[in-house]
Amino acid sequence: MPNTSVTLSTLRLDNPVIPASGTFGFGYEFAEFYDLNILGSISLKGTTKEPRYGNPLPRIAECTDGLINSVGLQNPGVHAVIDEELPKLEAVFHKPAIANISGFSIEDYAYCAELFDADPRIGLLEINVSCPNVHNGGMSFGTQPESAAAVTKAVKAVTKKPVFLKLTPNVTDIASVAKACADAGADGISLINTLLGMRIDLKRRAPVIANKMGGFSGRAILPVALRMVWQVYEAVDIPIIGMGGVASAEDVIEMMLAGATAVQVGAENLVNPWACPQIIEALPAAMEKYGIENLKDIIGGAH
Ligand code: FUM
Repeated sequence: MPNTSVTLSTLRLDNPVIPASGTFGFGYEFAEFYDLNILGSISLKGTTKEPRYGNPLPRIAECTDGLINSVGLQNPGVHAVIDEELPKLEAVFHKPAIANISGFSIEDYAYCAELFDADPRIGLLEINVSCPNVHNGGMSFGTQPESAAAVTKAVKAVTKKPVFLKLTPNVTDIASVAKACADAGADGISLINTLLGMRIDLKRRAPVIANKMGGFSGRAILPVALRMVWQVYEAVDIPIIGMGGVASAEDVIEMMLAGATAVQVGAENLVNPWACPQIIEALPAAMEKYGIENLKDIIGGAH
């Protein structure tokens, strides 16, 4: 039987497949489709200090092989996530989950990180410095090495759990941002978040999305994600969670050969709610086809 287990810092996963934040709610919503315990872990909906109602509608634009979203970090706030969402997840998922934290100040990030640090249901913190859909926060922390490093340091100061910085592809030099996070003490890097994009409604002669622009994700972005995972793997010595357009077991293997230790599946969950279990079930046969006995042996194997 091929070995699919991987380790993200101190968090061991039975397999590298994780539903990506923002495409899987707080996890329990998908329990009606399959047993969630087949998953490596789950990255929860991006959580902020205060509740957020998100951006005005419409927030979604469909595209060839993908979609644009401008959800705007809708979530009930960190206290409600811990008190109301995590108990519902705990009832159906018995592995450590990944908290995905967004903020509008460095203090916001640290505030949420400290609360999740104290929660045994959380095994890893994914710090989102890459949301393109909010002003004065989110992506603005992830476009400069200095601010990404400052968030990293503030979060590391309040937690002993592994801290992974989730980076935006909307930069010219992803390696320098990843390196600044690593130098500031990050335990790993997650990438890529969505690519800033837009669609125009021909009849209205106006942007489809109320917020005009949003984040483009889906199968079409896989080559961009692979390129950036590759570049970050060359720049840092900490584990990478690769994501962006992953939709098959072969995509998981490709992402790991580029340098990812684990892989998140995002937009594909919206197309096919069984995407993650189908990928996990297909992994052993794909490993056998490509002569892989132990999945972790291939991490960065294409370099
Ligand atoms: O708008 C959103 O909630 C998306 C968040 C993200 O891409 O990080």
